[in-house]
Amino acid sequence: MTLGSSNLQVPVVAVGCMRINSLDAGEAERFVKGAVDLGATFFDHADVYGDGRCEEIFADAIDMSSAVRDQIVLQSKVGIRPGAFDFSKKHILASVDGILRRLRTEHLDVLLLHRPDALVEPAEVAEAFDKLESDGKVRHFGVSNQNPMQMELLRRWVRQPLVANQLQLSITNATMITAGINVNMLGESSVDRDGSVLDYCRLNDITIQPWSPFQYGFFEGVFLGNDKFPELNKAIDEVAARYDVSATTMAIAWLLRHPAQMQPVTGTTKPERLTECVAASEVHLTREEWYAIYLAAGNILP
Ligand SMILES: NC(=O)c1ccc[n+]([C@@H]2O[C@H](COP(=O)([O-])OP(=O)(O)OC[C@H]3O[C@@H](n4cnc5c(N)ncnc54)[C@H](OP(=O)(O)O)[C@@H]3O)[C@@H](O)[C@H]2O)c1
Repeated sequence: MTLGSSNLQVPVVAVGCMRINSLDAGEAERFVKGAVDLGATFFDHADVYGDGRCEEIFADAIDMSSAVRDQIVLQSKVGIRPGAFDFSKKHILASVDGILRRLRTEHLDVLLLHRPDALVEPAEVAEAFDKLESDGKVRHFGVSNQNPMQMELLRRWVRQPLVANQLQLSITNATMITAGINVNMLGESSVDRDGSVLDYCRLNDITIQPWSPFQYGFFEGVFLGNDKFPELNKAIDEVAARYDVSATTMAIAWLLRHPAQMQPVTGTTKPERLTECVAASEVHLTREEWYAIYLAAGNILP
C-alpha cells in the first residue's frame, strides 16, 4: 500500500516495537529478522519505548547496516517527556538525534508527533520539520492521537503533508467507527470523541495506523480468548473457521476490511503471531461478516 499522500510503498501491517524490551537478545533477533523474512519490513518505534531501549535492542537485533537499512522502513515518534508533552523545536530536534543514534541510521522514513501537546506552537513544529527534512534526517511526517482540528492547526504552518495518524482502534475500541454509524442519536455510541477523524483522514489521504489492535480498554488485556467477550469470540471464531485462519488473523482482517485502507500496528513479540497478523492481508470479509463481528463486540446499529 501507499502511505498517505506520499510515494512510500509500505506493507499493510506495521510491526510495533513497544514491547521488544521484554525479549532477550536471541529472541529479539529471531523476531525482527523473522519479520523481515515475512515481508513485514515496516517498524514502528517511539523514543519513549523502554526509555529508548527498544530502539537500541532493535538495531542490535537486526544487525543494522546500510544494506539492512535499505530493506526496511523505519518510523518513530517524539513529543512525550516525563510529566509533559513537548512539541518545541528544541525537543523535536534533540529527540530525533537520539532516535537516529539508537537506531544506528542516518534517516527516519517517517516521524510522528506522539501525543498532542497543549502548548504546541505550530510555527515551531514547522521549523523543526523543515530542518529535519533539509538535513536529510526525516523523509515523511505525521501525527498520532490527533483530531482533525489539531491537524488543521499544524497544516496551516507545516509545509510537508501529514501522511499518517496513529490512533487507538480495535474491534472493542471502535468509537471512531461507532460514532459515524450512530450520528445524531441520544445514546453513548453517538458521542463523537475525535471530531470525525476517520472521515477527515480519508478525505485528506492520511493513513490511519490503528494501535493496540488486540487490546480492550487502555492496555487492559487482549479480547481474543477472553471470558469477558464470549459473543465476540464466538463470532470471530466462526468467521475465522470459514476462511481457515486463526482468530488473530481475523482481528486484523476486520480492520483491513475498512475501506479507509488502514495500516494496523501490531504489538506481538512472537514470530508465529506476527505471521498470523500478516496473513490477514489475504482475507477479504463480506459486509455481513464485518458487521456480525462489529455487533458481537457490543457495538450497535441505531
Ligand atoms: N501512538 C500511540 O500512542 C501508541 C500507543 C500504544 C502502542 N502504540 C504502537 O502500537 C503497537 C501495538 O500496541 P500493543 O502492543 O498494545 O498492541 P496489541 O497488538 O493489541 O497487543 C500486543 C500484546 O498482546 C499480546 N497478545 C496476547 N494474545 C495475542 C494474540 N492472540 N494476538 C496478538 N497479540 C496477543 C501480545 O503478547 P505476545 O508478545 O506474547 O504475542 C502483546 O503483549 C506498539 O508496539 C506501538 O508500536 C502506539
